[in-house]
Amino acid sequence: MRTLFVLCVAMSAACVATAQVEDFDSIKLHTLKNESGMTVQVTNYGAIITSILVPDREGNMADVALGYSRVEDYINAVDKPYFGAVVGRYGNRIANAEFSLDGKAYSLLQNNGENHLHGGAIGFDKVVWNVVAYEAPSSIKLSYTAKDKEEGYPGNLELTVTYSLKEDNSLVVRYQATTDRPTPVNVTQHTYFNLKGEGEGTILDHELMLNAKRYTPVDEGLIPTGEMPEVQGTPFDFTIAKPIGRDIELDHEQLRYGLGYDHNWVLEKTANKNNMTLAARVHEPTSGRVLEIHTTEPGVQFYCGNFLDGRLIGKSGKPYVHRGGFCLETQHFPDSPNQPNFPSTILRPGEKYDSQTVFRFSVAK
Ligand code: GLA
Repeated sequence: MRTLFVLCVAMSAACVATAQVEDFDSIKLHTLKNESGMTVQVTNYGAIITSILVPDREGNMADVALGYSRVEDYINAVDKPYFGAVVGRYGNRIANAEFSLDGKAYSLLQNNGENHLHGGAIGFDKVVWNVVAYEAPSSIKLSYTAKDKEEGYPGNLELTVTYSLKEDNSLVVRYQATTDRPTPVNVTQHTYFNLKGEGEGTILDHELMLNAKRYTPVDEGLIPTGEMPEVQGTPFDFTIAKPIGRDIELDHEQLRYGLGYDHNWVLEKTANKNNMTLAARVHEPTSGRVLEIHTTEPGVQFYCGNFLDGRLIGKSGKPYVHRGGFCLETQHFPDSPNQPNFPSTILRPGEKYDSQTVFRFSVAK
């Protein structure tokens, strides 16, 4: 049965002005559900995943995605955490908020120090998407057309994201786009997970494996230096699963720059069918919940909620403490438009952007 909830929306003039949202009535919440009860909720504001209910090893359900229950909380959140959203047109950073393409210079908003982050002031996380198709209860397709020059980027970009919930507790996220002028594109999903349940303390005890022998170190502004050293012998080695917190306080320049982990790992491409590669596996020992991620993307940004500090209160009234959630943002590498050695992020007219990531939940005994 079709379940459609209108999110509670503040209609005050002040809120409308802050949000730059003109059509609050079109903001809806949609529910995906499978036979075993896994439930995912998605709103067309920012294409945000607002909740993910999955069982632990005893079958007890918990919501493992950080977020809010009211749209105005997403709109007004301090420090812009991007909970659950699709970020773009360029997820992560572009150095000095500029790049050149085919000999022409483009200037973007400096919204992260002197750099550009997650698509600018009103990125894809802060716009109202259209619902193209809601095939209850298993999938929803949303679309957004970013205009030529929107946030400084060239080209009208027609983008869709499809969320499909499968019977094996996989959430498949597929992004497809075309453009009428060459443009950089790098969209990703910014859900913060806590496999104990949102608001249930830190994620430092979660055991993480990343399928990556190399990562892209950064400067103080979190812009990649262009090098891709091996992780072996460093706190960045997650080739064998270890608790996220094990090495996080070690004295290492890169951990100082990131305030912990906030880096891109270079995935080992072991492409199988559909060009998918294992990116990460996370296991939470007390609940037994496991999250495994496969992707067509070459990298993953592992960010462990270093900017959370307890001020944001989540949907069930609990504060989101420092490192109270982690993101695994499958992506092309940060600052690729300025880094000729990184895989290209330029989409040209006539080409099809098609990127897929699968988040599969299970339990370990
Ligand atoms: C990404 C960035 C982080 C931070 C978060 C949002 O993961 O790499 O530095 O900006 O988004 O808070």
